[in-house]
Amino acid sequence: MPTLVTGGAGYIGSHACQRLLRDGHQVIALDNLFRGHRAPMDLLSHAYPRQFSFVHADVGDTEAVTAAINEHEIDTVMHFGALAYVGESVEDPLWYYRNNIAMGIGLLDACDQAHDGRGISRFIFSSSCATYGDPPEGMIPVPENCPQSPTSPYGYTKLHFEHILKDYATKRQREDNPIALTMLRYFNVAGSDRTGMLGEDHTPETHLIPVGIDAATGKRDSMSIFGTDYPTPDGTCIRDYVHVEDLVDAHARAMERVQIGEVQAFNVGIGKGYSVREILDSIKRVSGVDFAVHETDRRAGDAIALYNDPTKIKATLGWDAQITDIDEIVTTAYTWLKGHPNGYAT
Ligand code: UFG
Repeated sequence: MPTLVTGGAGYIGSHACQRLLRDGHQVIALDNLFRGHRAPMDLLSHAYPRQFSFVHADVGDTEAVTAAINEHEIDTVMHFGALAYVGESVEDPLWYYRNNIAMGIGLLDACDQAHDGRGISRFIFSSSCATYGDPPEGMIPVPENCPQSPTSPYGYTKLHFEHILKDYATKRQREDNPIALTMLRYFNVAGSDRTGMLGEDHTPETHLIPVGIDAATGKRDSMSIFGTDYPTPDGTCIRDYVHVEDLVDAHARAMERVQIGEVQAFNVGIGKGYSVREILDSIKRVSGVDFAVHETDRRAGDAIALYNDPTKIKATLGWDAQITDIDEIVTTAYTWLKGHPNGYAT
């Protein structure tokens, strides 16, 4: 099935392209290369010359996206292209709203106008557990019906876009031209493709696992734990780390199983939480390096503990994380980053 992957040159988007290509689909990646990389596009073009193409454009460039959808007879859109740093969104919320919402509407216009106004049939959106903010008591592990109350502009951009998509799906239903809409709310995505072709290359890098690996490989002198006084067993925050290949498997299943006319939201996380200290211990085991760790103040906006209740996604999509051992997840990230000390520019 020809699929458009927005943000296809980014960390998760590139892994989604790879998975779809492996499954035999035709893939058109669209990216403005602001934070995405040309290198994974070249690698995928080389590996799948007849199935893959790249369009250099903004997600919100309705004309370019409509042309790509029509030219490649695209029926399914996976929308990854967005800004995704919580802290940055607090500093410059308007940029985040413009990019993640206004540009997203430009994309939806294209999805609506394409194919002589018939539009596309399937839309899968990268949402986030950041839409839940701090879940109320009794809501951890977090189910999909947990109240959504973000604590950052980033989380609000994802929540607002979920609402926009639902309204759009209702319009299509009213026009007797329904769409299959899936919103996947990711927990903490980690690791990289086990063949070593693709990896995680963010600038700036702020995520715990790559930052810890940078300390292990000597790219940084040390790293910090943000807060050791949380009400958790070891005082540090707890998160649910889902391997990127498991995450993209959820997209592949949503594409196959969510039916036209359905609107579905699923959390994607393994259902087990690890503390910051447990993650750092894993990085030390995997790398064999006892790097320096400082204990500093809490980082503003961090939730105490977030991990998924995977009941719904297991029952509905038959999805279950295949890689749940944290050392295995960290090993995939470590192997790529050690081999690519300057990311894709290596
Ligand atoms: N942390 C440290 N030191 C670091 C980096 C992170 O102690 O150098 C801690 C954080 O305080 C947090 C945990 O490690 O407790 C995980 O932090 P990350 O920055 O790796 O990930 P977040 O949980 O903050 O953010 C992730 C995604 C966001 C998403 C969010 C939803 O990156 O896109 O989950 O909660 F919005």
